[in-house]
Amino acid sequence: MDSRTSRQDEVGKHEESGLGRGRASALANANIALIKYWGKADEALIIPRTSSLSLTLDGLSTETTVEFVGNGRGAMPPAQRDLPGVPDRTSGPRVAASASSGRDSLTIDGVQQSGKVLDRVSKVLDLVRAQAGINAPAHVSSTNTVPYGAGLASSSSAFAALAGAAAQAAGLRPSRRELSRLARRGSGSACRSVYGGLVKWNAGHDDASSYAEPVDNSMDLAIVVILISNREKHVSSRDAMVRTIATSPLYESWVQQSGKDLDEALAAISTGDLERLGAVVEANAMGMHAAMIASRPPTLYWLPETIRALGAVEELRGQGLPAWSTMDAGPNVKVLTSGRDAERLADELRSMLPACRVQVHRPGAGLRVFDESGVRE
Ligand code: DP6
Repeated sequence: MDSRTSRQDEVGKHEESGLGRGRASALANANIALIKYWGKADEALIIPRTSSLSLTLDGLSTETTVEFVGNGRGAMPPAQRDLPGVPDRTSGPRVAASASSGRDSLTIDGVQQSGKVLDRVSKVLDLVRAQAGINAPAHVSSTNTVPYGAGLASSSSAFAALAGAAAQAAGLRPSRRELSRLARRGSGSACRSVYGGLVKWNAGHDDASSYAEPVDNSMDLAIVVILISNREKHVSSRDAMVRTIATSPLYESWVQQSGKDLDEALAAISTGDLERLGAVVEANAMGMHAAMIASRPPTLYWLPETIRALGAVEELRGQGLPAWSTMDAGPNVKVLTSGRDAERLADELRSMLPACRVQVHRPGAGLRVFDESGVRE
């Protein structure tokens, strides 16, 4: 959480930069799923097959500034607007959203983007433009403060920050839930990064019912990231999900099991039982990988060092350290542990896996949005 001083510093910084009037910034942290999202019931709206649970982490963040350029702003008062998919409370103007998307520009870490990456960002901007009644193109610039290169720059922080900055820059004043739904349209996992700490994404059945919400907890959790490779994955998670659903004979049983795993994880959290939580977290991730490995052709993200890392975690657990592995669409291993034991676990892993970078991440804050008046929430 921000201290009062650092919050004031950030406010000052953004005031000096002249944010406001069509321009806003947002900062979001990435999240790691403890019970995974893998597979969509609706590809266009990004409605998942299963509900999921995650931990938002500090130190893996994206800061994004969105500026709508030109004078294509609508006349609806901001307070009366709502976000796409929610029944409209006004009869205000609507603009053909696609009118501007070809003219958006995007830089990520200073590098100009085009093609699929820009298209995905423009789709989220289109939703915001349609709702705000504007047709101005946008300049988007995004910086990732990931401590060790690209491999962990998840789309979760990127699309949460984009949703926050774009809605604010367009003059919308969405609720947290509406922001979660908007972030979801960019990348499913991003809907969870709107909140800090432990977060549940309710799968829902349509746009309005599929959103994330914070989960009460008093547990002292941390994630130790074992960085095995930061090379771009050979199959995107989006494509791998489609292939798993279409061809893996194990997928439906993972879906069935995942609902039970989520109940088990929430029960463990409500009683503060880390052993019980860790066991189900590890099993759920391994089940997801089993399903994708069984797809045709197989999707295998693992490298030899991945197996060594999984073995090291198991060995350390055998020695009494709390440590359970989870993995996403890549070869890196993330280890759930207690905040108290995280540094010791990281030291042990560093000596057992000298080729890997090992970093401790503690729970991080939810999305923060800035405009000319500083931090909004
Ligand atoms: C393995 O959110 O990146 O990290 O919705 O297609 O953009 P899209 O997928 P994305 O998938 C994340 C998958 C995962 C598990 C998780 O974060 O729950």
